Amino acid sequence: MELSTRAYNDYISALFAPQDDALTGALAEMERENVPGINVSAVEGKLLEVLALTVGATRILEIGTLGGYSGIHFARALPEDGKLITLEIDAHHAEVARRNFERAGVVQKTEVRVGPASETLRRLAATGEPLFDLVFIDADKDSYTEYLNLALPLLRRGGLLLGDNTLPDAVLTGEESGTKFYNAAVARRSDLTTIIIPILRQHGMDGLTVSFKRSPG
Ligand SMILES: C[S@@+](CC[C@H](N)C(=O)[O-])C[C@H]1O[C@@H](n2cnc3c(N)ncnc32)[C@H](O)[C@@H]1O
Repeated sequence: MELSTRAYNDYISALFAPQDDALTGALAEMERENVPGINVSAVEGKLLEVLALTVGATRILEIGTLGGYSGIHFARALPEDGKLITLEIDAHHAEVARRNFERAGVVQKTEVRVGPASETLRRLAATGEPLFDLVFIDADKDSYTEYLNLALPLLRRGGLLLGDNTLPDAVLTGEESGTKFYNAAVARRSDLTTIIIPILRQHGMDGLTVSFKRSPG
């Protein structure tokens, strides 16, 4: 990250996203357990929390749990009887996340479901799960468009659909990428109003695609 970009990020982070014991503990536990540090940044985590609060979320669906760092932010935005269902293919990541939710005092609001997300999403639809207020897609990038198609029916109208890592280098190079296909797919949909929020990262720029699911008419 350029010096000036880092300075902007550090300013936002220090003022609005100071890290408490639960968050630093979650990252430390991930490192101890060899879970890769590919979680959202502190600033993006706080953004997710604010977005969840904005739609008054009581039910959140996350695709891609990792060690539960973003999940802690979502759980904090939920009321006491709220629920975060988070999907993870890797059983070890899921176990680390459960421990981190426990340490953060949010375990009663969270449920980690292990397995390929596309299968779990189909099961959620088949079992008539109540609709979600917010869906966050942050797993294997080539499957984003499939997750869009599977998860959108599970999102209530007036809810938010978020896609992470959506300003890849491929935007500059012209190469193909899963998240570019995803951006094109949400841009085409008349039932979504969408924008990409640029996100500062340790190494350059990334993006969070934010889509609002509109009521018909
Ligand atoms: C970028 S990480 C998620 C980061 C997390 N949201 C955070 O910010 O703390 C992506 C996660 O998706 C999981 N994943 C990859 N492919 C998956 C699939 N097909 N189904 C479910 N999870 C998958 C990976 O194992 C990894 O833990």
